Amino acid sequence: MDNKKRMLSGIKPTGKLTLGNYIGAIKQFIAYQDEYEMFVFIADLHALTLPIDAKELRQNTKDLISIYLACGLDPSKVVLFKQSDVHEHAELGYIMTCNSNMGELFRMTQYKDKTAKMGNNESIPTGIYIYPALMAADILLYDADYVPVGIDQKQHVELTRDLAIRFNSHYSDTFKVPEPIIATNGAKINSLSNPLKKMSKSESEKGTVYLLEDLTITRKKIMSAVTDSGSEVVYDTINKPGISNLLTIMSSLTNMPINEIEKQFENKGYGEFKKAVADVVCKELNDLQTKVKEIQSSGIIEKVLEEGASKASYYARKKLSKVYRKVGLR
Ligand code: AMP
Ligand code: TRP
Repeated sequence: MDNKKRMLSGIKPTGKLTLGNYIGAIKQFIAYQDEYEMFVFIADLHALTLPIDAKELRQNTKDLISIYLACGLDPSKVVLFKQSDVHEHAELGYIMTCNSNMGELFRMTQYKDKTAKMGNNESIPTGIYIYPALMAADILLYDADYVPVGIDQKQHVELTRDLAIRFNSHYSDTFKVPEPIIATNGAKINSLSNPLKKMSKSESEKGTVYLLEDLTITRKKIMSAVTDSGSEVVYDTINKPGISNLLTIMSSLTNMPINEIEKQFENKGYGEFKKAVADVVCKELNDLQTKVKEIQSSGIIEKVLEEGASKASYYARKKLSKVYRKVGLR
């Protein structure tokens, strides 16, 4: 075994992936696989913490894995698996729940944000409350050094550290204490219909490009993207947030520096620029969608998941049996 550091991350199969996820997260993620020993899993148990339709969960899971494979996540380099295929996650999750306290779970801002809208405390699902204890188990099972996450998940990784340190000092050294990595190099993509807001599943249909949507719709969304007053294609996030957002998208997908794109569109209008952006995005998504279709019809997904689960189980089993001994279950 070489001495690469170990990195682990989970992705929840809720909702459809957007161009923002692609540029801001997936592409960065692929870059890590050569540098680290990577574990990537589909956090399907986490998807159950808020009500979700079974058919939708199944479809999201399949789409998510296919998109990752289509984007270049390589199962010969990365342990790629589904959380529910490795039963140790739920088991260590229970132990971590027993080793956490109500106060620390209650302080999680994601819990507070998500439940603030639910009103009645009595009907808040318990899963959303104990979710961070399961997330801690996901990470601690594999002795991960680093956990790349969006800023909203940083607090959960910090809780994981606290739980690991507490367990280690109570029962003797058992878990590696992980560090969160917050990607800062991924560009932030904003909504096409409201360029002051982040592009997201919950923003607006019109402003959000979904990776697997019909590309005639994508083209329409880009052609009708909100632009700014004036007519020059220049990067200026204060006065021209719409055009700046399109420049960011174009630059991220072509690797062309923004000032070169500006030069290319000097003295040309917004219409021509938008058409060029639409061409670039549609070409990229067309290639992605073609690969996704190939992957979905090839039967490879089942094989990848099966192998991934078997590799992950090797580590998970060892760690859980150590924990069971320490706490007195064995
Ligand atoms: P989410 O879909 O919000 O759970 O985010 C999953 C990952 O995608 C996180 O790493 C986010 O930072 C990234 N991401 C989501 N939306 C965007 C966006 N509009 N621009 C850049 N990155 C994004
Ligand atoms: N909670 C994460 C999210 O909502 C997903 C997740 C679950 C995760 N388990 C994890 C991320 C372990 C990193 C490590 O995005």
